[in-house]
Amino acid sequence: MKTIFLKRVPLLFGLISGTIFLMSYTEIEIQAKAPWVAPASADTIKNPLKGKADAIAAGKKIYGTYCNVCHGDKGKGNGIAAAGLNPKPADHTSAKFQAQSDGAIYWKLTTGRAPMASYEKTLTVTQRWQVIDFMRTLK
Ligand code: HEC
Repeated sequence: MKTIFLKRVPLLFGLISGTIFLMSYTEIEIQAKAPWVAPASADTIKNPLKGKADAIAAGKKIYGTYCNVCHGDKGKGNGIAAAGLNPKPADHTSAKFQAQSDGAIYWKLTTGRAPMASYEKTLTVTQRWQVIDFMRTLK
């Protein structure tokens, strides 16, 4: 009786750890697939530099320094570091991306979501709006 029980211990252990592995794996899968959506309140944040030519020029430089490694020079999401990333960097030229409000984009830039960092400390408020003005020219 005792030996039968002992023989089953590794089996039981295998079953439990297998289940835990599957559960965490499924969780990662769900996280990866969930689209990144800014809260509705972000839509009310107004862009103080909307469409200003000097802001677009400054934003282009910022994009070329901080963003193009992942998002690519033309914003297609195909920068040199893009291949190894999951999820893939967003395509800033797409209609879906461009349909968002400036406030929603600002919120994402400020908040970040792995593998993309938060730019709250790297870029000033002004620089974040400048890069958003530049992204509007990518459509
Ligand atoms: C390390 C690579 C990396 C860098 C550098 C990076 N991003 Fe991203 N970015 C990503 C990834 C990956 C996503 C998709 C994240 C997701 O869907 O969860 C993303 C998504 C975004 C989104 C949301 C797209 C959408 O569809 O709503 C915006 C906006 C954005 N990036 C802007 C920028 C800007 C501006 C910079 C430079 C200041 C930048 N990113 C730098 C990897 C990067």
